[in-house]
Amino acid sequence: MRLRRSEAALVVAAGAAVVAAVVAVAGSTRWAVAVASLALALGLLGLARVGQLVLRELSALGAQQQRTTRTVRRLDEARKRTGPLIRRASRSSGRAARDAAALGKRLTAVEESLLHETRELRVVAGQNLARVDDVLRGARVDSHRFRTSLDTLPSDTLRLMRTTERLMPGTADFPGLGDWAITTSSLLAMLSDVATRTGPVTVVECGSGTSTLFLGLALQQRGDGSRVVALESDAAFAEETRGHLARAGVAEIATVVHAPLVEREHTPGDHRLWFDTSGLPDLDGIDLLFVDGPVGGSTHEARYPAYPFFADLLRDGATVVLDDTDRPDERSIVEKWASAEHAGRQATVHRRNVRSTMLRVRVVDEAGSADD
Ligand SMILES: C[S@@+](CC[C@H](N)C(=O)[O-])C[C@H]1O[C@@H](n2cnc3c(N)ncnc32)[C@H](O)[C@@H]1O
Repeated sequence: MRLRRSEAALVVAAGAAVVAAVVAVAGSTRWAVAVASLALALGLLGLARVGQLVLRELSALGAQQQRTTRTVRRLDEARKRTGPLIRRASRSSGRAARDAAALGKRLTAVEESLLHETRELRVVAGQNLARVDDVLRGARVDSHRFRTSLDTLPSDTLRLMRTTERLMPGTADFPGLGDWAITTSSLLAMLSDVATRTGPVTVVECGSGTSTLFLGLALQQRGDGSRVVALESDAAFAEETRGHLARAGVAEIATVVHAPLVEREHTPGDHRLWFDTSGLPDLDGIDLLFVDGPVGGSTHEARYPAYPFFADLLRDGATVVLDDTDRPDERSIVEKWASAEHAGRQATVHRRNVRSTMLRVRVVDEAGSADD
């Protein structure tokens, strides 16, 4: 606004100068000088004012520049101060980014391993459930067998009493069954088995006791040279059984061989405690093999060697009875015996009693088929 006023003064001065020139042309020198002086004065005034404004503007610009310089300096200082912070922050953010990437990788790995483990757990859980199912199925079968055996107990007992009366008429010295001895149903099944056979019958027992006595009595009645040989690891128990046999008058037919348990290699690399068979008499064939020893738990699957050891002597159609097949070890032994041929013989499960399992043995020809 002030600049406009000074511009106006200059315009007025220019106008006065033009008037002075016109007056001079018209011939009035004095008026021309006066008007020119006025124009000059106004011009000078205007110029002075312009100069003053310019100076003021320059001074304002100078102050502005100083403020700008100070601001720039402050900004410089701030930059110097914040530079390291920014560099540190950028280093930290780089580290944080790397850490985040590594953490991400670790999380992915953990997630994958969790997924893998979950999958494996599902498989294991499935297998366990299947096993539980098997156990439950086995328990149902056992309980069914147990109920059946309870149902048949009275008739079994009656049959046993009649058998005892037939084999040992009027005897009071009657060794009981159950507990360590064979169960009534298994004994009756074995007695029926030998009763169906023709010709002299040979029975071999692993573990002697009441069964030896009953079998001895049953075989004696045949009067055809049938016999029973029992391996007994316990010398005192062997003597006790021999006492029963002698009192019943069957010592000629029923023999107890003291056969302590010794460690031996049954198949290459398979060392187990089993009977020392050096005292066993010559046998030309076996019709019934009753495996009720060694005592379960003396070693893992302690009774397994019996079948492979006697296999080559087992006649076609022979019966193998394994007692205590309510225990896992004995169940596993039955599966192993039946799963492969031994000395050209194939055993198959024929009957399951409450506590024992009977297997039928067939001599198979080289092509693997059973002889009739
Ligand atoms: C299960 S028993 C054999 C029983 C026989 N087969 C029977 O049915 O009467 C197996 C072995 O256990 C041992 N034994 C039998 N009765 C026993 C008892 N009461 N205490 C300790 N051992 C016994 C004997 O060495 C025997 O050969």
